[in-house]
Amino acid sequence: MSQARRMAHIQPFHVMALLARARALEAQGHDIVHMEIGEPDFPTPAPIVAAGQRALAAGLTQYTPALGLPELRAAISDFYREQHGVVVDPGRIVVTPGASGALHLVLALLVDRDQQVLLTDPGYPCNRNFVHLVEGEPVGVPVDAATGYQLTAAMAEQHWTEHTRLLMVASPANPTGTLLAQAELAALQQLAQARGARLVVDEIYHGLTYDSDAPTALAVSDELFVINSFSKYFGMTGWRLGWIVAPPDQVEGLERLAQNLYLAAPTLSQHAALVAFTPETRAILEERRAAFQARRDYLLPALRELGFVIPVTPRGAFYLYADCSRFTDDSFAFSRQLLEEAGVAITPGRDFGEHRASQHVRFAYTTDIPRLQEGVERIRRFVTG
Ligand SMILES: Cc1ncc(COP(=O)(O)O)c(C=O)c1O
Repeated sequence: MSQARRMAHIQPFHVMALLARARALEAQGHDIVHMEIGEPDFPTPAPIVAAGQRALAAGLTQYTPALGLPELRAAISDFYREQHGVVVDPGRIVVTPGASGALHLVLALLVDRDQQVLLTDPGYPCNRNFVHLVEGEPVGVPVDAATGYQLTAAMAEQHWTEHTRLLMVASPANPTGTLLAQAELAALQQLAQARGARLVVDEIYHGLTYDSDAPTALAVSDELFVINSFSKYFGMTGWRLGWIVAPPDQVEGLERLAQNLYLAAPTLSQHAALVAFTPETRAILEERRAAFQARRDYLLPALRELGFVIPVTPRGAFYLYADCSRFTDDSFAFSRQLLEEAGVAITPGRDFGEHRASQHVRFAYTTDIPRLQEGVERIRRFVTG
């Protein structure tokens, strides 16, 4: 039987094929430096694991309310007050299966067939596919160094049509690691509100910032949607837990969708995450943040010295998005060759959009400095032939 027409639009993650090849090479005994992996190499902090084990031992294995455990929603609200000085009513917080679940809910809530969603190109690839899933139309806005690889209100205006319904941005962003300043967030929100559209800000890499904290869009307005997750800063990718902060009048719709789509986010994960904000856990997370910063501070100048062009210093996440046109005009073939011939895995730009994708690659610093050094040495030998 044939598949639904929308499946024609759902792209695979090309890096997955690359990762599979890297694993196959490893199985043959080759040593591969992994600079393609988009998750922390650190395990979940011990206090969170212990809380999950306690919940399991206590038999806390049934559904939670669809919006999430009330204690967890309260803890997230406290976190916004302590970390950002922003008051967020716990009633506006919806706990979800990862930021992925959050993105799915928000798009299902807001986007009708053929409505347009403005996204950055390059940007997080799954967003385009989520838009297709609700039969909307993703509109990639080419972004480059001039705007820190971020969407500005002026660019959104240029791409605006009568069908525009949503603006989606991320700060810090994947694949570029760049941030949006509070004034830029405010300008985007103003535009969206003035035109009867909505702004969605993905803050999944919040906490992983290295020069200054990223402002939360919640400081700008209560009328936008913020998406966040326990995956990255909190080191809980496999626990599948995230959240939405929604405008107060939108929570009921999200609750109805959550009840139908997945009933509730994973119960054990929610109990475990209750200790994610404690001083003990935060101390571990801050140590890791410092480790990521040291890696960035090593890798960024090392790649620039090799001839990769990284015009905007990435201030967050764990990615460097580099122009590799000095070496190739086919970053996909370049990544493939680098893996096969030098044993270094990176992600080709093609995974993140179309805009100058063939001239770009993404490096992830989700491995320790000695391995990054080994990777840089191998790349040096590869590009100097
Ligand atoms: C920008 C961005 N948003 C959302 C996600 C989804 O994360 P999760 O579902 O693990 O919370 C990712 C994962 O890499 C991401 O990079």
